Amino acid sequence: MAILIKGGRVITADADRIADVLIDGEQIAEVSESIECPGAEIIDAAGKYVFPGFIDPHVHIHLPFMGTNAIDDHASATRAALAGGTTTVIEMICPGPDDEPKAAFEEWKGLAEAGACCDYSFHLSVVRFDEVAKQQVRDLVANDGVASFKVFLAYKGALDIADAQLFELMEIARELGVIITAHCENAEAVDAMQERLIAEGKTGPEWHEPSRPRCVEADGVSHLCAFAELTGAHVYIVHTSCGAAVDQATAAGRRGVHVDVEAVAPHLVLDKSYAARPDFEGAKYVMSPPLRDAEEHEHLWKALADGRMVTIGTDHAPFNFEGQKDMGREAFTCIPNGIPGIQERVDLVHTYGVCEDRINLQTMVATCSTNAAKTFGMYPQKGEIAAGSDADVVIYDPAYEGVFSQSESESKTDYSGYEGMTRKGRPELVMLRGGLVARNGRYIGSGGGGQYIGRVPTH
Ligand code: URP
Ligand code: ZN
Ligand code: ZN
Repeated sequence: MAILIKGGRVITADADRIADVLIDGEQIAEVSESIECPGAEIIDAAGKYVFPGFIDPHVHIHLPFMGTNAIDDHASATRAALAGGTTTVIEMICPGPDDEPKAAFEEWKGLAEAGACCDYSFHLSVVRFDEVAKQQVRDLVANDGVASFKVFLAYKGALDIADAQLFELMEIARELGVIITAHCENAEAVDAMQERLIAEGKTGPEWHEPSRPRCVEADGVSHLCAFAELTGAHVYIVHTSCGAAVDQATAAGRRGVHVDVEAVAPHLVLDKSYAARPDFEGAKYVMSPPLRDAEEHEHLWKALADGRMVTIGTDHAPFNFEGQKDMGREAFTCIPNGIPGIQERVDLVHTYGVCEDRINLQTMVATCSTNAAKTFGMYPQKGEIAAGSDADVVIYDPAYEGVFSQSESESKTDYSGYEGMTRKGRPELVMLRGGLVARNGRYIGSGGGGQYIGRVPTH
């Protein structure tokens, strides 16, 4: 049966208007001022926002990392995504240095096929880069819908890539028209700083940020952009935490480098004082790049408002406090890096971005949905409310008021990074390709149903 959403405020990256939306099967059939469709199921959306399904361009679900494995599986993480209004995720495939890229892709895709409740795609981390890996990278682009790769200029000896290999990978990326996403820090500097601080007995989570200060991140961005300038590759800088790093990317952009910059929710609303919480609770807030001084929030929101940053992801990296984060009680260098947040992102951006007048609703849609679809080759199938697009729709209640709480989370983690924080607004109804999957911030689907979104090179 067709579904007719009546009288909502339909907000896309390009328009903000009262309109009706007709859904037929898995697609949007029509959007216009007044639609009549006898026999259709009517949803009254008066007083509500009607958004395109949100896209999270940076999540970790299956993540073997720092001697442990992230705690979510594809079912729990994607239920959480849908409860929070996110209908498509792009997961980072993170193989180890000995793993073949093709085998890693098959492993991650198999896990997602078995469990994912929302739609999904992948960025593939390039850690191993010998002749076998190079050929597999080409094959994955040609045959498997992989159109973006990931490099870590960080985590020395575990996930990082040597400069000579980075250069060659970026030349291949340029040739194939695919994007290199990058975690940018100076890995050598981080190593040296960690060694110094630990030798001085500075072992608690509050020393994580001083071990990788802003200059380390800005240096990583500058390094990546130099390689992009030399090779002509399109680069996308993930989880950018501070104005200094954004400035490096902006300057490179002015020189003609094709560079896009991502923000992630923790850096927009949390600050480094959280990592200094007593009784080792600060470990919950250890991520890389680290949480910064609160003054950085304004730099990031401004960059989102004026387009210097194009997307907001979560960097959802779910480790339990008990049994995982506490592996680092003796030294902050052993705390698994990451903060969960796949469910909270949209409401955080609404509460602390839109309601605080830092960005408007259209920028919220652009940065949390449409720009990711465009950047990563999923537009207009995803990230749009228009005839022919997938019927991924969020009917959003801006008047809801509450607090974030782990007790309402579908993620398996034993804490929420946003516990007790004010929440304004929540998804009232979430549809994935026309099917109702979440209501009032709760997943109500019957499990599974997520589809792989294979992509083609964007240029
Ligand atoms: O601290 C983080 N960001 N953990 C996940 C891995 C990564 O660097 O993205
Ligand atoms: Zn990272
Ligand atoms: Zn990440």
